[in-house]
Amino acid sequence: MPDKLLYIETFGCQMNVNDSERIVTMLSDLGYAPTNDPSVADMILLNTCSVRGGAEEKVYKRLVNLRIYKRDGKSQIIGVGGCVAQQEGEELLKKFPYLDLVFGTHNLHLLPDMVQGAERGERRSETAFIDNDQRLDLFPPIKGQSRLSRFVTIMQGCDNFCSYCIVPYVRGREISRRSADILDEVRQLADEGVKEVVLLGQNVNSYGLKSGCEPTFAALIRMVAEIAGIERIRFTTSHPKDMSDALIACFGDISKLCGQIHLPAQSGSDQVLKLMKRGYTRDAYLDRVRRLKSVRPDIAITGDIIVGFPGEREDDFELTLSLLEEVCYIDLFSFVYSARPGTRAAEREEELTRSQKIARLERLMELQKRITREICQTCVGSIQTIMVEGEGKRPAQLSGKADNGRIVNFAGDRSLIGTFVDVRIIQAYQNSFLGCLMQKS
Ligand code: 5AD
Ligand code: SF4
Repeated sequence: MPDKLLYIETFGCQMNVNDSERIVTMLSDLGYAPTNDPSVADMILLNTCSVRGGAEEKVYKRLVNLRIYKRDGKSQIIGVGGCVAQQEGEELLKKFPYLDLVFGTHNLHLLPDMVQGAERGERRSETAFIDNDQRLDLFPPIKGQSRLSRFVTIMQGCDNFCSYCIVPYVRGREISRRSADILDEVRQLADEGVKEVVLLGQNVNSYGLKSGCEPTFAALIRMVAEIAGIERIRFTTSHPKDMSDALIACFGDISKLCGQIHLPAQSGSDQVLKLMKRGYTRDAYLDRVRRLKSVRPDIAITGDIIVGFPGEREDDFELTLSLLEEVCYIDLFSFVYSARPGTRAAEREEELTRSQKIARLERLMELQKRITREICQTCVGSIQTIMVEGEGKRPAQLSGKADNGRIVNFAGDRSLIGTFVDVRIIQAYQNSFLGCLMQKS
């Protein structure tokens, strides 16, 4: 029976969500159970992200707010992990005297020892990078999450050094996990009743290429698809420059591979792509998209776009707008460029004011809204197979995911949770569909 409570707040990407699950698993061995209420917690951890600007300030503000929970008499522990911790290290302990722990992105395995020290009143910062295969052996597992869909990390770090991006500096070099370990993990998840796995990495398309003795990403997907019990496979994130024909072919002949791909373009202009050091042109990107659509015509493509990159002129931005129309993204994550200290792009002078950048972002979002609406409208009337994940927001409603990743809500009995059902789409909203149950498939 756990006797202590852990409150953990996660910022940023799926990597961090996954790391937080690892932390919860590790600390449960020390008697900590998760809570959603920081005021009753014995330990508060922030798992931070520094991909975009303002992240450090957000963390500082949160730390100041959390101070009120440091209870008199009982020594509550406060810690910061993730990318901001990686960047700031010891400095955070100096800035915040009530902070006990700072742990970097490669140091999760040290956390139990650090926590035991903190329980005795010790303050500690651990942010050393581990840039060799040893990092993979220190990879703490995730246990005890009984969900239908689970993320499986297949690689960590990134070697691409896109000129705007802090990730290679805070997550380190790219290292692929051994395929045998990945497959063992997926088999174990299947045994636990997991039906969908999402293969996770900063750039899954280059999985295994550096090691020389691991399968390619396309071959790995084929191996995962062989595992009984796993019905759906997704992955994220795909770098367009490393998207092989073999991977595209998987969408044509592996029915378990869902018709959804996140393929960040970042810009539709060749001159901006070059400044960003993305390693592909607009035409090369569109070629990948065309090939994907030729093997899976209804594939749902999502993307990331940065607006206002230093050097982005009005005509470059218009090329990005036209890219959206050509690709027909079902959804888009769009960001205003923010300089990250230490990156190459941060040395470039910015010509646009913040309000000019925001004006571009608003035009982009307005266009995307229309495209999303149009694509989703074409799904109305279609029959989709839904993996029923839980109850919907309305009474007697269930919620699940279509093959293309869209959320579908529909009336149905709770007993259907955990099964696959066919649903006719009757209404499309901006972020979800309303459906009507057909039959159990
Ligand atoms: N400014 C704005 N957006 C950024 N991203 C990464 N770095 C920056 C930055 N400096 C966006 C990219 C990436 C997503 C995770 O965050 O679009 O794909
Ligand atoms: Fe950052 Fe580029 Fe690596 Fe993505 S591929 S994490 S944008 S450096």
